Amino acid sequence: MTATSVGIAHPPPRLTWGRVELRPIADLDRHAWRRLHAHFRDPEIAHLNGTPPSRLPLWLLRRMLRADAARHDRRTFGIFDEHAAYIGTVELYDLRGSEATLGIIIGERSHWSRGYGGDAMRALLAFAFEQLGLERVRLHTFGDNERAQAAFRKVGFVERQRLTGPRGRVDVHMELARSAWFERRGAPPAPAAGTAQAGPARTASGAPANLSPAAADATG
Ligand SMILES: CC(C)(COP(=O)(O)OP(=O)(O)OC[C@H]1O[C@@H](n2cnc3c(N)ncnc32)[C@H](O)[C@@H]1OP(=O)(O)O)[C@@H](O)C(=O)NCCC(=O)NCCS
Repeated sequence: MTATSVGIAHPPPRLTWGRVELRPIADLDRHAWRRLHAHFRDPEIAHLNGTPPSRLPLWLLRRMLRADAARHDRRTFGIFDEHAAYIGTVELYDLRGSEATLGIIIGERSHWSRGYGGDAMRALLAFAFEQLGLERVRLHTFGDNERAQAAFRKVGFVERQRLTGPRGRVDVHMELARSAWFERRGAPPAPAAGTAQAGPARTASGAPANLSPAAADATG
């Protein structure tokens, strides 16, 4: 299957890996949207993500993110932990040909550095490589975001380039190729499109990736 056939998986299924479940953003309930709104307004998260904190009211942010998520070049999911609590958002954007860019925000600080980001990315990468048939997933993050770089390396991303931006902040470009994903996975490509169970049960505790709050916040 090629990326041009992604239409058959749209809207995408729920995906699982380890302790997380990814649900299409269209499926978020009111509580999840309130938490997402809080994450997008958080100045520290905004700084890590390289965007201004959102000043949009919840209703407008929801409308814009839903519209964004309906685009053909984007797949956006809410991340839910093992207690079915919404903890963040992960997406593929700039989905063109056989490539896409990954963005992720674990918005709940209580969940940082506990493997949830790794699980969420693996669930999304399994979807990207095994269901969408992508050849490469890219991302970019900031040089000062050591936790993000460690998390990205853990799931197999390798650094390709470092560029210093106009304000002196270093932009780190990373990517993961399909072949490397399957090498790490240790299994042949899963054939079944639409298979929601993406990964094994977790045995141990456990994107600037652009989740586009700026795109959703023209006033930002
Ligand atoms: C970046 C993010 C997605 C990573 O998810 P996570 O669940 O926190 O990460 P994981 O637990 O899977 O992996 C983090 C790793 O970094 C390590 N780490 C944490 N702080 C670190 C630091 N300052 N320097 C180096 N490594 C660090 C952790 O120990 C862990 O490695 P380990 O499992 O070998 O111990 C998440 O922290 C997040 O969303 N943060 C806020 C927003 C953000 O930064 N988004 C990314 C923008 S590009």
